[in-house]
Order: sequence, then C-alpha cells, then structure tokens
Amino acid sequence: MQKFEQFLLDNLPQSQSIHPHYEAALHNMLKAGGKRFRPALLLGVVKAYNPLMSESAYHAAYAIELLHTYSLIHDDLPAMDDSPLRRGNPTLHVVYDEVTAILVGDALNTYAFEILSTAPFSDETKVKLVRELAQNGGLNGMVLGQAIDCYFENKPLAIEDIKILHTNKTAKLIAASLKMGAIIVGREDMAQELYDFGIKLGLLFQIQDDILDVTQSSEEAGKLTNNDEAKNSFVTILGLDEALREANILADELTQQMESFDESLQRELSPILTKYINRHKSTS
Ligand code: IPE
Ligand code: IPE
Ligand code: MG
Ligand code: MG
Ligand code: MG
Repeated sequence: MQKFEQFLLDNLPQSQSIHPHYEAALHNMLKAGGKRFRPALLLGVVKAYNPLMSESAYHAAYAIELLHTYSLIHDDLPAMDDSPLRRGNPTLHVVYDEVTAILVGDALNTYAFEILSTAPFSDETKVKLVRELAQNGGLNGMVLGQAIDCYFENKPLAIEDIKILHTNKTAKLIAASLKMGAIIVGREDMAQELYDFGIKLGLLFQIQDDILDVTQSSEEAGKLTNNDEAKNSFVTILGLDEALREANILADELTQQMESFDESLQRELSPILTKYINRHKSTS
C-alpha cells in the first residue's frame, strides 16, 4: 500500500487560484491518512487475478478513496454529525469554515470521476467502473444511507431497517470496491459473489464502527466518539452486548465464506480481511 500512498500524493487535486486556502483544504483530509480499507480491497482482488495490473488499478482505488473521503468531510459537518475530529485531525469546517468543507467535499466527489476517466483501461471498462462507483456511492447508495441516517435521528428504527441504512451508507461502497477489482481484471463471473460478500463485510464494518463509537476514546479512534446517541446505531438500538453478538455472527459467516475463495484470492485478501473482520474483538 506504500506505492498506492505515493500515487495518491502524486495525484492530489491541483488548483492554483487567488483563493488563499482552497488547495490546502483539498489536500488536508487525503493526506491525513485513514485505513485505506476500500482501496486495499480493490487492489487485493486485482493482485489475486492479474498482478501485472496492480499499478494500473491505482486510479480506480484512488477514485473510491476520494469519494469516501468526501463522504467523511460532509458527514462531519454541523448539519450532519457535527464532529470536530477526523483521521486524528481537526475537521475542515473547524480549520477553515463550513463553506470550505462543503465545497471540498463537492470537489473530491467529482475529482473521483475525473481520476477514473484517466485510468489506463478500455473505455468500456471505465464506463462500467464509473457506473459502479456512482450507483453505490450516490443517490441509491451512500447518499441515500446518509439521508436515512440523518432523517431518522431520535426516531428509532426496526433492526431490519437499520440494516438497510447501514447497507446503503457503508456496505455498498465496500462491496463496490471488491466488484470493481473483478471488473478491472475481467473476472465478471466473480463480480456478484464478491459484491454479496462485500455487502456483508460492509454491514459488519459499520456495526463495528457503531461498537467502536462506545468502546474507543476519540484519541484512539482519531474521530469524535460517543457521538451516536441520537443515531440508529446497532449499539444505540440493541445495546453493546447484542451488537457484539451480531458482529460475531457476521464475522464467523464471512470467515467461512472466505475459505471458499480461490487460493490466490484468499492469499491476497485474507491479511486485510482477518484484521478487519475481527476488529471488534479486541475492544470487547
Ligand atoms: C468511516 O470509514 C465511516 C464509515 C463508513 C464507518 P473508515 O473507518 O474507513 O474511515 P477512514 O477512511 O479509516 O478514515
Ligand atoms: C458514516 O457513518 C458513513 C459515511 C457514509 C461517511 P458514521 O457517521 O458512523 O461514520 P463516522 O463514525 O463518523 O466515521
Ligand atoms: Mg454519520
Ligand atoms: Mg459520523
Ligand atoms: Mg460511526
């Protein structure tokens, strides 16, 4: 992932203008790091099936990270989760102002598709990747999830509806990361299986995030924790023990499914999957 980080730094959004801090604000959250979970999933699938394409897949991995980073910047805005800390750094609306945070989010969202359009793939592959990223990150994906998340603050939902909320706001983009890897290497026969696996992985990822909100300090998490009281989080609705139980069930199912993957896919994905599938366990 070190080479991917270098690619990201080499391809930071550029904008020279009379604006005193616009470009620095565009770079701020990208340079702050984060887990790079979604790029690692995409790159793992590519490496498993066609290692020679690993570097040409960086454009697509970066596109997902850009869209994800925009979603975090907007998620932290006062109108949404109102958080002063992200990736261990003060959020953009705190460092600068809300206007800057909103516009940087907008710019990273569209820059994701610009980067994807410059990827070294056939036009047909690029259109498929654009569609996947838009469908899962956009109006019937992450954005829908965020709309439901914020609308239903202080309005408790049934657990089945919370799963739909988590699937949209988090799982679809994670599932798309795996599927986009399959599209890049021309293994569309694997796309649906990987997508379905990714939906379950993403649901677990968000349940874990809900658990970490109550078990980690803001310092440990690098973001404001204990901030989900009004939310339909798994912990708020089910309590910590039941949320941990749900996470364990999903973790077991995913571990089992992973064992049915091709040998090469297991080799490339299991280090990252094992780490994240079990990340709720060290805090319980
Ligand atoms: C945080 O995502 C938001 C969720 C969807 C849970 P990550 O936990 O992947 O955040 P970064 O990228 O590491 O900052
Ligand atoms: C946000 O979920 C998911 C996004 C689409 C950004 P959260 O609001 O739980 O994410 P954190 O806890 O702030 O990272
Ligand atoms: Mg949120
Ligand atoms: Mg949040
Ligand atoms: Mg959270």
